[in-house]
Amino acid sequence: MSSEPFKVGLLGFGTVGSAFAELLEERAAEIERFNGRRPVLGGVLTRSRGNFEEILADADVVVELMGGLEPAREYLLAAMRAGKDVVSANKQLLSQYGEELFETARQHDVRLRFEAAVAGVVPVVRVLEESLSATPIERIHGIVNGTTNFILTEMSNGASYPEALKEAQRRGFAEADPSDDVTGRDAAAKMAILARLAFGTPVHLNDVRYEGIEHLHRDDLEYARELGLGLKLIGTAERRQGGLSVRVHPTFLYSGHPLAAVSGPFNAVTVESETITEITMSGPGAGGRQTASAVLGDVVSAMTGGARAPAPPLPLRLIEDVENAFYLHLDVADRPGVLAAVTQVLGEHDVSIKSVVQRGMGERARLVMVTHQVLESRLRTAIERVGEFEFVRSAPRIIRVIEEEFL
Ligand SMILES: NC(=O)c1ccc[n+]([C@@H]2O[C@H](COP(=O)([O-])OP(=O)(O)OC[C@H]3O[C@@H](n4cnc5c(N)ncnc54)[C@H](OP(=O)(O)O)[C@@H]3O)[C@@H](O)[C@H]2O)c1
Repeated sequence: MSSEPFKVGLLGFGTVGSAFAELLEERAAEIERFNGRRPVLGGVLTRSRGNFEEILADADVVVELMGGLEPAREYLLAAMRAGKDVVSANKQLLSQYGEELFETARQHDVRLRFEAAVAGVVPVVRVLEESLSATPIERIHGIVNGTTNFILTEMSNGASYPEALKEAQRRGFAEADPSDDVTGRDAAAKMAILARLAFGTPVHLNDVRYEGIEHLHRDDLEYARELGLGLKLIGTAERRQGGLSVRVHPTFLYSGHPLAAVSGPFNAVTVESETITEITMSGPGAGGRQTASAVLGDVVSAMTGGARAPAPPLPLRLIEDVENAFYLHLDVADRPGVLAAVTQVLGEHDVSIKSVVQRGMGERARLVMVTHQVLESRLRTAIERVGEFEFVRSAPRIIRVIEEEFL
């Protein structure tokens, strides 16, 4: 005699929800074969269909694919309080109410799974929670937003920012309103979640410093190429100065870095630790069916008793001002003495230069440099002074550089 079906209450039936329902049906027999129970769709909730209380009463697991903060938060809390395992793909919710959700999961001894909330299909949540749970992690670098990675890939092939954005929208990689992606806020939410998992300390979306890609120039990518660098929107969470720094910025990478080759709408995460050196995982960053596959993996994990909610939080200081190498772009008058004046000011602020490209363009010249590691506040003071020279023609631009190469 076969066991009872495992009922999935589904909240949300949009891009991911409908793809999830389809995939669930396709994979149900195989899941039953190795798992002994057949997952079946119970009730479905949208704005015009279904009743939450009835869906909850009937469900063995509740899957939230609505997005937004409310009522998603309220429904997930109610489901966990009723003793149900829950699955969500909602990065905004987890990056703002993660501690409340984790605490509720611990109190009611239920599972809260959220693989699809970070880095699309790349199984980084499970790797951090399970495979690397005993590894002291030093740093995570991630390309966790496929839209911006696609735009930057187009720009490195010669497109301007508006052209690249338009192409991303045409191919369905960017929403009509792309603000959350291009401002770096979506990536910041994902880095807050990753930082919590890797370092055990609560990180709210508001704790993450982030910068987007809207201000980038095609020029920057061209000069950087001459210096052997490629540009990515990189999220970083790392131990610094006895605390934790979590940030998202456009960042240059040397070609030997494992993230340098990740192009188009793909995501990737590199985890670094003395005990593992580094591990990089990459895969599609979004897409209904791809995301649905991560969600279904979470449902199976809930069925088979996968990892529990993260342990109670550890206190760790959040550090804002950190050292980095920087790319510096200056638009200056083309005349003798300019480079010497700039390097003198930089030197006075302990900013040392690793490489320089100088190109005359008639009356003006472009001065592009990569610095060695320097505290960001120190570099900003130096740049302010450089910006005061009368020979500087437009505001200096800086972009962070990751110096390490893994060969
Ligand atoms: N799309 C992706 O590739 C992707 C990738 C990773 C993670 N995610 C995450 O997955 C989640 C779902 O994304 P999506 O792209 O599938 O969204 P979507 O296409 O906008 O679908 C949202 C669904 O939720 C329902 N819904 C919204 N508010 C509701 C409410 N107050 N009450 C009842 N139902 C409500 C909508 O119902 P109506 O149809 O009635 O409006 C719709 O069925 C989000 O958290 C998103 O961040 C998406």
